[in-house]
This record gives sequence, structure tokens and C-alpha cells, in this order.
Amino acid sequence: MFYFNGKEEVTLDSENIPKHVAIIMDGNGRWAKKRFLPRKAGHKAGADALEGIIDAAKKIGIKHLTVYAFSTENWKRSQEEIDGIMDLLRSYVKKYTERAKKDNVKMDAIGDITRLDYDIQESIKNLEEVTKDKDALNLHIALNYGGRDELRRCVKKICKDVEKGKISSDDIDEDIISKNLDTADIPDPELIIRTSGEERISNFLLWQIAYSEFCFSDKLWPDFKEEDLVEAVYQYQNRNRRFGGR
Ligand code: FPP
Repeated sequence: MFYFNGKEEVTLDSENIPKHVAIIMDGNGRWAKKRFLPRKAGHKAGADALEGIIDAAKKIGIKHLTVYAFSTENWKRSQEEIDGIMDLLRSYVKKYTERAKKDNVKMDAIGDITRLDYDIQESIKNLEEVTKDKDALNLHIALNYGGRDELRRCVKKICKDVEKGKISSDDIDEDIISKNLDTADIPDPELIIRTSGEERISNFLLWQIAYSEFCFSDKLWPDFKEEDLVEAVYQYQNRNRRFGGR
């Protein structure tokens, strides 16, 4: 299939589309600062950019898209900024609950959402319920998510199963660990994208990225468009993945 990558027409190999792409949406604050706008306006522009990327991911044929919307570290930001992101999340979840039928996107949250306001938790559960049979794309929104916190919760679940005698400690293998993570039913991401020129993983999907390819874009997240996702997938397809072999 032909796509535009911002510079030229490129062909994406439909047999080699990553099943799972995960994105660290970085640069909302800098986008707003450049325009002398409050940080909240940057996050709003970031949420709008996400809508475009959801459509683009569907078009390209990506099956799972995970986006890092709020990390366990983001609680350290000012209360004003946290409240702004939570308000945005509230309206975003509401908007998507209404659009779910048309969009054919199945949505869920990863992370420990029990720390979010109760009304947000309830509307996320409702969104998960109304989209559960959709199948064009699976959108996983990471909320109060941290890779270390996910592993901590995973270890706790496995210990409980050992205490109850459901499994023995000798049974613990990689598969049991994967199945006790928030991403239990999701394949590991083949491609991780981070925007805004930063090249760090920032506690995102620590277990799942063992063999992922990384693509770093200089674009600030609100400026990240379909053509940039095409370019990232194009770069991915032109790499040689060896998984430790030759
Ligand atoms: C990083 O930019 C972005 C975040 C911490 C929040 C991500 C939120 C969105 C993309 C919009 C909200 C989406 C939903 C689904 C509610 P930054 O603030 O770290 O930017 P900076 O590094 O330039 O300051």
C-alpha cells in the first residue's frame, strides 16, 4: 500500500505491519510554551493529535495502540496541571463513549486506575464495556501507569496464587509473568515511538519492550500526524529484527 511519509510516497509491506505500536506522547508542554499558551492547551492539542493517530493506525492496519497518557510519576506535577489532564480525560472518555459505535475501536486502560477520581474510573469501565466487541483497533490508554508499579502488582498477584496453592513457585515462568501484567492479552509491542526528541523509556512497558524497535521523532506530540506514524512504521519495516539470533 502507498502512503505519504511527509517527504515522499512510500510503500508499506502489508505483511509486516507491527501488530502493536506503543507511543510516549511527549512535548505537549513545549508545544504550548512556544505559543505562549498554558500547559493545559498543550495537553488539549495532544488529545486532538491522538484522535488523528487513532484513525491513522486503523488505516495502516495496526491492531493494538498503547499510549502513555499519565504516568505514576506525573502526580509530581502541579495540582493545576494534574486537574487539567484529568478534566481532559473526563471529556475525552465521554466523547469516545458516544463515538464508539462509529469508530469501531475497542478501548481499555492499563495502569492502576484506582487512584483516579471515582467518576473517571466508572466512565472508563463503561467505555470498556460499550467498546468490548469492536475490532478495528484496540486502544490501550496507560493511566497512572508505571512499568515498575505494574511489575510490583504482578509479583503480588503471583505471590497470592502461590500462597493459595494455585501454583507452586517452581511453576513461575515468563508466561506466568506476562499473564499477570496489565497487558496480559496484548502482544508485546514491536515498535515504540517517542516524540519531542527525548530518547528515554521513562518507566513505560519495561517487561514488554524486550525485543521492541525504537523510533524517536523530533516532532512535539501535538504536531505528530499520520505521515509521521507512516514514517515510523516505514523505518521499522526497513530494520532487520534478529531477536538475539543471527
Ligand atoms: C507529555 O507532555 C504528556 C503528558 C504527560 C500527558 C499526555 C496527555 C495527552 C497526550 C493528552 C491527554 C490524553 C488523554 C487521553 C487524556 P509534557 O507535558 O511532558 O511535555 P513537555 O515535556 O514539553 O513539558
